[in-house]
Amino acid sequence: MNKIFFLSLLSLLVAAHGVAGSMMCDNNMGMLQELESLDIEEENEVELSDIPSWRSERGGKVLVNVDSFGAAGNGESDDTEAFQKAWNISCSTPKSVFLVPQGRIYLVSATKFTGPCAGNIIIQIDGKVIAPDEPKNWDPKSARVWLTFSKLDKAVFQGSGVIDGSGSKWWAASCKKNKSNPCKGAPTALTIDSSSAIKVSGITIQNSQQIHFTISRSDSVRIYGVKVSSPGDSPNTDGIHISESTNVAIQDSKIGSGDDCISIVNASTNIKMKRIFCGPGHGISIGSLGKDNSTGIVSKVILDTAVLRDTTNGVRIKTWQGGSGYVRGVRFQNVRVENVTNPIIIDQFYCDSPSSCQNQTSGVEISEIMYQNISGTTKSDKAIKFDCSDAVPCSKLVLSNVNLEKLDGTVETYCHSAQGFGYGLVHPSAECLNSNDQISQLQEPIKDYIIHHTEL
Ligand SMILES: *[C@@H]1O[C@H](CO)[C@@H](O)[C@H](O)[C@H]1NC(C)=O
Ligand SMILES: *[C@@H]1O[C@H](CO)[C@@H](O)[C@H](O)[C@H]1NC(C)=O
Ligand SMILES: *[C@@H]1O[C@H](CO)[C@@H](O)[C@H](O)[C@H]1NC(C)=O
Ligand SMILES: *[C@@H]1O[C@H](CO)[C@@H](O)[C@H](O)[C@H]1NC(C)=O
Ligand SMILES: *[C@@H]1O[C@H](CO)[C@@H](O)[C@H](O)[C@H]1NC(C)=O
Ligand SMILES: *[C@@H]1O[C@H](CO)[C@@H](O)[C@H](O)[C@H]1NC(C)=O
Ligand SMILES: *[C@@H]1O[C@H](CO)[C@@H](O)[C@H](O)[C@H]1NC(C)=O
Repeated sequence: MNKIFFLSLLSLLVAAHGVAGSMMCDNNMGMLQELESLDIEEENEVELSDIPSWRSERGGKVLVNVDSFGAAGNGESDDTEAFQKAWNISCSTPKSVFLVPQGRIYLVSATKFTGPCAGNIIIQIDGKVIAPDEPKNWDPKSARVWLTFSKLDKAVFQGSGVIDGSGSKWWAASCKKNKSNPCKGAPTALTIDSSSAIKVSGITIQNSQQIHFTISRSDSVRIYGVKVSSPGDSPNTDGIHISESTNVAIQDSKIGSGDDCISIVNASTNIKMKRIFCGPGHGISIGSLGKDNSTGIVSKVILDTAVLRDTTNGVRIKTWQGGSGYVRGVRFQNVRVENVTNPIIIDQFYCDSPSSCQNQTSGVEISEIMYQNISGTTKSDKAIKFDCSDAVPCSKLVLSNVNLEKLDGTVETYCHSAQGFGYGLVHPSAECLNSNDQISQLQEPIKDYIIHHTEL
């Protein structure tokens, strides 16, 4: 037998046995339920010669515990190398479980966990993973990322653990907090990039340096029961950010942060969100798109059933002046807003830049956007705001059963360069929409999609 292969198997066995042992001691069976079809017997005294049959006979998972690769798990020693070693073994072993065990804290600096892997890997995070908190010592080669998983196919991320970006010093160093600081980006806590057939469930991501969780260049990603949490005044800490990805579903997730709870940007299509709680934060956003004359394309997005509480926006589409592309085929439905500043907003003059932005003759085109059953309380008078470009008006905006109230005053709809209509109850009234447009003129496939497509 090849020596390296033999050593790898040995460490896998140590890993597997170690975990089975500690679970018996703790009498904690919670994790067992989390691991899909994990099959490890208590009396796991396997002869080395039996290894291949042990693996094939039981058809079970091979646990690769970071502790078995030298992770200290004390929150102070650097466990980065142990994570890398464990990843390398785990990724090259079929049906393996990359395990971050519970009850311990792992300090890990910027790390790439790269595939492709041998197949069906489970990333089981039950413990807490924390980032070094000092921006000055961060590896400049990973300026915008902390934990990056890429090129995975059919992978599952699960567990009751926490990924914590230790972001407070990054927030203090942001130009949003202190105008004399330079404006530069900070790392994203968790990134899943260039991957397909991914499931993410249960984990908590908190106190990120900047964006909490990015899904980029990926297809078929399902996220459920994920929690995102950081203070409402932490700068640019988007919750879940989707970029250049298709067929993404986010459901049953609770997100509170200092920026968008969910943001969907360029080259993303077929995005479904269901049962989302958002707050604090800046709401659920498509965009921003079109910055620096770029192309932005987002289509087929559904948000179904959401509560937004104490957020600055409810459902938002934001584009910069200039640029090209479109946002088309979007439905926001069954949304409850509570104490939200801009419950329904399209902003085609978005400008999140220290220097001012000029109006331009091009822009990202917005059309076929439906708002259905949206109710609750607003903090501003302009409960509905469609602020569209003169050069590229918004079209085919449809409102139905919208009811927004202000506790201490009246509400109104603001329209600029916006076309569409309302039906059923719409309060405040959508009369300012220029309604020389009929639903029958919607493009057939998109109309069908936004009106009838309900399953997630
Ligand atoms: C893990 O594998 C990568 C790619 O093969 C290699 O560059 C790296 O040195 C390995 N890391 C460890 C800690 O074994
Ligand atoms: C803002 O940053 C500058 C330079 O980084 C620093 O000297 C100053 O004390 C900071 N101000 C506050 C209010 O933190
Ligand atoms: C938008 O996505 C398209 C397609 O993936 C890509 O070609 C383009 O460069 C992206 N634009 C930006 C600003 O990232
Ligand atoms: C975008 O295009 C406009 C019009 O061509 C030009 O004036 C402006 O400088 C461009 N902006 C950037 C950031 O390239
Ligand atoms: C509304 O939100 C603000 C913060 O934006 C908060 O101070 C206020 O207490 C909230 N009001 C209610 C009625 O919840
Ligand atoms: C409208 O949306 C609210 C909030 O999500 C939901 O509770 C209610 O059931 C919806 N009504 C209909 C008729 O779907
Ligand atoms: C851009 O256009 C809007 C709408 O016409 C207008 O309200 C705004 O003042 C303009 N901004 C600039 C910088 O010209």
